[in-house]
Amino acid sequence: MTQILDHPITDHSTEQAPLLQQTLLELIELSLQAKQAHWNVVGPTFKPIHEFLDEMTDQYRGWYDDVAERLTAIGVAPDGRSQTVVAGRPFETLPAGSLPTADIGPLFDTRVSALADRIRQRAGDIGETDMATQDLLIEILRGVEKQRWMLRAHSGI
Ligand SMILES: [Fe+2]
Repeated sequence: MTQILDHPITDHSTEQAPLLQQTLLELIELSLQAKQAHWNVVGPTFKPIHEFLDEMTDQYRGWYDDVAERLTAIGVAPDGRSQTVVAGRPFETLPAGSLPTADIGPLFDTRVSALADRIRQRAGDIGETDMATQDLLIEILRGVEKQRWMLRAHSGI
């Protein structure tokens, strides 16, 4: 899935690449899911949740760009192709059609919590072998955990 370029810049690029590549797939998938939910949410508190889902989409897009460019920077080709995302099955797909506002919190809390757990684990695994990559993951983790707080506050869960 990952391809090491000619001149990896760190001794640990081969160890870090799968962790970053999987994070890339997860963030791409969640950007698509948040946008899908943004379009399909229905219910009494539609507007703030509709807008919040768009903010989440923008955050995932920003983070996956950072992750992909970190891969390139350490000498590894990022793979953000649609078939790679599907094959990686990072998260269960959303139900088709309308999504009641009451379902948005639980649906995304599950996914965002799983993402936070995975990124925390990876940041720990990378440790001090590459502090720049670890710092990027920690920054994303901070943002993901803020999303989880806001999701729960929106949803009362
Ligand atoms: Fe929109």
